Amino acid sequence: MQPRDGQTAEKAPPMVRVEKVSKRFDSVLAVAEVDFTLETGAFLTILGPSGCGKTTLLRMIAGFIEPTAGEIWIHGRPVRDLPPYRRSIGMVFQKLALFPHMTAAQNIAYPLRMRGFPRDEIAGRVERYLRLVRLEGLGGRRIHELSGGQQQRVAIARALVFEPDLLLLDEPLAALDRKLRQEMQLEFRRIQKELGVTTVNVTHDQREALVMSDRVMVMDAGRIQQMAVPETVYHRPENRFVAGFLGLTNFLPGQLLESRAGRARLRVGALTLAGTIADPSILPGTRVEAALRAERLRILEEATGEGWEVVEAEILEVVFEGERLVYSARAEALGEVPLRFVDADPLRHRRHRPGERVRLGWRPSDLMIFRADPEAPTRIGQPEREDNG
Ligand SMILES: Nc1ncnc2c1ncn2[C@@H]1O[C@H](COP(=O)(O)OP(=O)(O)OP(=O)(O)O)[C@@H](O)[C@H]1O
Ligand SMILES: [Mg+2]
Repeated sequence: MQPRDGQTAEKAPPMVRVEKVSKRFDSVLAVAEVDFTLETGAFLTILGPSGCGKTTLLRMIAGFIEPTAGEIWIHGRPVRDLPPYRRSIGMVFQKLALFPHMTAAQNIAYPLRMRGFPRDEIAGRVERYLRLVRLEGLGGRRIHELSGGQQQRVAIARALVFEPDLLLLDEPLAALDRKLRQEMQLEFRRIQKELGVTTVNVTHDQREALVMSDRVMVMDAGRIQQMAVPETVYHRPENRFVAGFLGLTNFLPGQLLESRAGRARLRVGALTLAGTIADPSILPGTRVEAALRAERLRILEEATGEGWEVVEAEILEVVFEGERLVYSARAEALGEVPLRFVDADPLRHRRHRPGERVRLGWRPSDLMIFRADPEAPTRIGQPEREDNG
């Protein structure tokens, strides 16, 4: 939009605007009415299970495939007629696609040569970007003479060296081992902040999404399930899918009894429980699921109870994970569903054995009530896997 009457300058347009974009491949609706904007300099991570449409969305932004419906804008202009190489986008894919017969420096110089940069400017920029990704001195190495993490950094430098408006990353860290991946996540974030380049990153690793992003978009079946800052998608999931996809979550199947102003009561097994509810359209009598994060559930040692919901349970299993223990237990009053919970400070606590009886407690404010997933009756009550990657 143009400034009106010269007084009120309009805000700069968002770097990316995706407006009701869908993509259909024959019978598959891969992306369904996706709608969002991304401000300049922001880091967005798209998180979702395999096949949910992440790569398809990224490839439409890049210009490799056309939307079936909707419009994509970059820098305030529609890009429908712009081929990929004219969209000012740097990209790193899971398969790095580096040129194996060239050195690291030649790989990084390639996009500059393609764009006709003068020779001495190319040399200066290549040096600068080698330094940025901490590969100074290694520019002369061929790709196969570099480690996986070093190759990764060559790919990042090559995507950034021509200073694109937008950086698109499709699971570039997926092939690395866990430790290197975690280091590269922080490294990547440092570089992105230093350059201020607007970035869209795709992953199915929830930790990566929470660690790296200004905003997280959770997708399932082609649709945005929630888009918000990491703390919000984790602590205030909008629906059952998001609650189950992030974190280690127990689901208790039940029936809504009453709901008012964000608080509700539901029946689970033989008990009536209090919880929070965000969706006011869920009516009493509806089949619901109450989500309870494993880290919000704990063993109550003393006979306390003020402000806690308490159930008796039997320990079924203890799993040692190094810095924490993960328990599962059965609370008969809640039905057969095993509850998982975490002891994050095992040095300070006694380790409980299978067969032991304990009192489990949680705060009613930590029980989040959602409409039950109608399509997955068998999933009800199954704790979801924690590592979605
Ligand atoms: N070229 C294509 N032709 C037909 N169907 C396709 C094509 N590309 C993707 N699909 C389908 O579209 C859906 C979304 O695929 P997409 O590659 O975007 O998923 P994804 O979220 O990137 O998954 P992953 O995490 O496994 O990479 C899938 O059902 C996939 O089979
Ligand atoms: Mg993909």
